[in-house]
Amino acid sequence: MPIQGKRVLLIVGGGIAAYKALELTRLLRKAGVLVRPILTRAGAEFVTPLSLGALAEDKVYRDLFSLTDEAEMGHIELSRSADLIVVAPATADLMAKAALGLADDLASTTLLATDTAILMAPAMNVRMWLHPATQANQQTLKARGVTIVGPDEGAMACGEFGPGRLAEPEAIFEAVSAALTGSGARPLAGKHVLVTAGPTVEPIDPVRVMTNRSSGKQGYAVAAALEQLGARVTLVSGPTALGVPTGVQRVDVETADEMLAACRAALPADAAVCVAAVADWRPAAPGDLKIKKSGAAQPLELTENPDILATLSQHGPQRPGLVVGFAAETNDVEEHARAKRLRKGCDWIVANDVTQAGVMGGDSNSVLFLTAEGAEAWPMASKAEIGRHLAERMAIALT
Ligand code: C5P
Repeated sequence: MPIQGKRVLLIVGGGIAAYKALELTRLLRKAGVLVRPILTRAGAEFVTPLSLGALAEDKVYRDLFSLTDEAEMGHIELSRSADLIVVAPATADLMAKAALGLADDLASTTLLATDTAILMAPAMNVRMWLHPATQANQQTLKARGVTIVGPDEGAMACGEFGPGRLAEPEAIFEAVSAALTGSGARPLAGKHVLVTAGPTVEPIDPVRVMTNRSSGKQGYAVAAALEQLGARVTLVSGPTALGVPTGVQRVDVETADEMLAACRAALPADAAVCVAAVADWRPAAPGDLKIKKSGAAQPLELTENPDILATLSQHGPQRPGLVVGFAAETNDVEEHARAKRLRKGCDWIVANDVTQAGVMGGDSNSVLFLTAEGAEAWPMASKAEIGRHLAERMAIALT
């Protein structure tokens, strides 16, 4: 176990999800990690010091002004005694204090008094998480190198639905392991990457639309992988059934025109990856009223949509330094991909043969990676893996 013997200072904040910190503690101890817990006053309303201490097999620190605690291990020493500080659950209040540098209890003082790496797993009501104050705090903390894990999206204890659930203990454990072994390098920190994903939906009339079968899975995987490497990611997405990847800012759109406008609004960006399956055509004049059956079939007049990839690739001060396009092909993949790279003006093309089983809507993909230097065939892998591979290549190009 490469993380055996590593030391984690675990700050447990106040929130209904605090019980998951107990499971996290158990997983860490099982892997041989030494866990020293700090339980905030609010945290102690949700889990008892006895449970936390028993699972951690260590003393639970609680009070900044405790004579015994300070005599045993002062708060400054406490903050230096770890390889990693983990805050789970990280409440809106703890994040705000850490972002501002406030220090009015043991947890916040420890966070301010340390230069040890910090990992936070936020958990709060969806409105608190989406509030511009919390989002700004999150960005500030990230920019300072804090790793943010989650929150997940789903049903919440407060009866609402959305992002704000504490990431599962297993996911936090994985992130802690990565941070402790140094495999959590973030070479894209400070870079902004724009990703398009999913289908577009073009109205015919108020009830009918033209769309395609894009699942958005590959684009979301690219966005998640870029975020994992530290990038600030804006994901401009058509309607999909997928949750927002952790740490990614999603902008929801429907039509190609809206997608282009959202992409323009997201600039400047260091790189753009166009994975969306943008409809090439849209109904020229969508009706305000539902088109009625008239006995005879009516022709539907179409007009061409803007090409977002080609537009972003145009030279100018706003052009991202690296523009990547995707291409779904059914035959002569390399030849078509080469022509597409030149026609669109993008730097790289990731081309796939959509006739292969499991690619369209599935979880795996095999691609041809094409740059000005040449082509590489990447073997069949999960879309997550293709996303990671591409993000790593982008990190090399951008740094
Ligand atoms: O021309 P084609 O649709 O095959 O090109 C695919 C690539 O171009 C993808 O990267 C896709 O996201 C992008 N594209 C676009 N806007 C369009 C059509 C395609 O950004 N209107």
